[in-house]
Amino acid sequence: MGRAFVYVILGGGVASGYAALEFTKRGVSHGELCIISEETVAPYERPALSKGYLLPEAPARLPAFHTCVGANQERLTPKWYKEHGIELVLGTRVISADVRRRTLLTAAGETISYKILIVATGARALKLEEFGVNGSDAENVCYLRNLTDANRLVDAMNSCSRGNAVIIGGGYIGMECAASLVINKINVTMVFPEAQCMPRLFTPKIASFYEDYYKAKGVEFVKGTVLTSFDMDSNGKVVAVNLRDGKRLPADMVVVGIGIRPNTSLFEGQLTMEKGGIKVNGKMQSSNSSVYAVGDVAAFPVKLFSETRRLEHVDSARKSARHAVSAIMDPEKTGDFDVVPFFYSRVFTLSWQFYGDNVGEAVHFGDFSGNTFGAYWVNKGHLVGSFLEGGTKEEYEAIAMITSLKPAIEDLTKLESQGLSYAMAV
Ligand code: FDA
Ligand code: NAD
Repeated sequence: MGRAFVYVILGGGVASGYAALEFTKRGVSHGELCIISEETVAPYERPALSKGYLLPEAPARLPAFHTCVGANQERLTPKWYKEHGIELVLGTRVISADVRRRTLLTAAGETISYKILIVATGARALKLEEFGVNGSDAENVCYLRNLTDANRLVDAMNSCSRGNAVIIGGGYIGMECAASLVINKINVTMVFPEAQCMPRLFTPKIASFYEDYYKAKGVEFVKGTVLTSFDMDSNGKVVAVNLRDGKRLPADMVVVGIGIRPNTSLFEGQLTMEKGGIKVNGKMQSSNSSVYAVGDVAAFPVKLFSETRRLEHVDSARKSARHAVSAIMDPEKTGDFDVVPFFYSRVFTLSWQFYGDNVGEAVHFGDFSGNTFGAYWVNKGHLVGSFLEGGTKEEYEAIAMITSLKPAIEDLTKLESQGLSYAMAV
């Protein structure tokens, strides 16, 4: 058995929703487009899962955060897909792909063929087992990648009021979940191997601000070590976390955020890979001209740095998806994808934005004991990255703009004293 479509989007996450909207704007006909997703719900704004979804009061729930509300666009509910003649094949895992024959095989045994495929399979959370620790299946050990994970996390939080949570990992998931658990009146200890939180992005000075802020909210940090095993009760529930440095932390629940791996396995050996993702050109087209890749799974040329990168953030998922559809539907008028990498986070009442690249020398500015501070990164004589906590809309726009211009910087001391006013003057 089988079905045939002109366009198939494989994956039903952020990129998929934005691609669907772009297809309709460019005039796709009823029955031409199909979305296949392992998830049982229509595409939604994944960032909500570690923020609004975990609030104790009036938490965000679907359908409120279906794509594309995150970018102030239309909200695409299942009804919207129906009205636009887009086939949503949900709760369906694709188990193999044949790019030469242009077919996908689902776990239910259906073959779906396409003329053009957009791969938007995102990524999966790394499991503790991959680091030699068992216990991920225990009911009070939580990961956070999709709605099923988020529901499990909410259940664990609800049965842990005023209890102890151990968070494994000091990255995005660790920091955002720690804040959400504190808001839910849970005692939080964060454990990570590095000397500071958010090591992939923050400088030690920036990290120290957030760690102090979290400590003031009651969060404890155990740094420079990893967990080696769990202690379980007779029901298979985790009761404590054992660390390499010999510490034992009692735990009513555990949240694990130790990074992701892009979902590329269907295409290994069929498409060219780079940086752990599917290598694409500036049109988001892979080494097979009928296959495009977008979002977390795509490794694409970042014009600003003349380098191929894979980004794991929502802004690039949204924009790369729209760009791929533009390249498919209007190839003559579509240039190469050009985006300034943009990351952000919101925790407690804090909020930061980052643009560009965090390489070279960091120049800090602002009041680190107050609410507004930041940093520029200067590499090979040019400003290449900007971070700002507590900015206004105009200030964030200014650091985005200055980063996109990559200006020459001769005097780091002068840049430091000018601080935010340097960006605001442009
Ligand atoms: P995404 O993961 O969204 O979707 C992939 C889809 O493919 C899923 O529906 C999956 O089920 C499906 N799929 C995979 N393999 C399949 C198969 N074989 N068959 C069928 N379906 C398959 N970023 C940011 O900039 N700011 C933020 O605040 C946050 N916050 C945040 C919170 C949380 C909890 C997470 C997990 C992530 C974020 N992010 C973020 C990152 C951001 O959400 C991420 O970059 C985008 O979701 C990537 O979009 P994609 O569509 O590429 O993958
Ligand atoms: P991450 O890469 O941000 O952080 C992983 C962290 O895991 C590291 O910082 C390290 O502290 C820790 N770690 C690594 N190995 C470990 C080990 N063996 N034991 C203990 N700790 C270990 O990944 P994440 O926090 O899992 O986030 C997953 C994905 O979700 C990322 O793609 C991220 O971009 C995305 N996300 C983004 C946002 C945002 O942009 N605001 C928010 C949430 C999630």
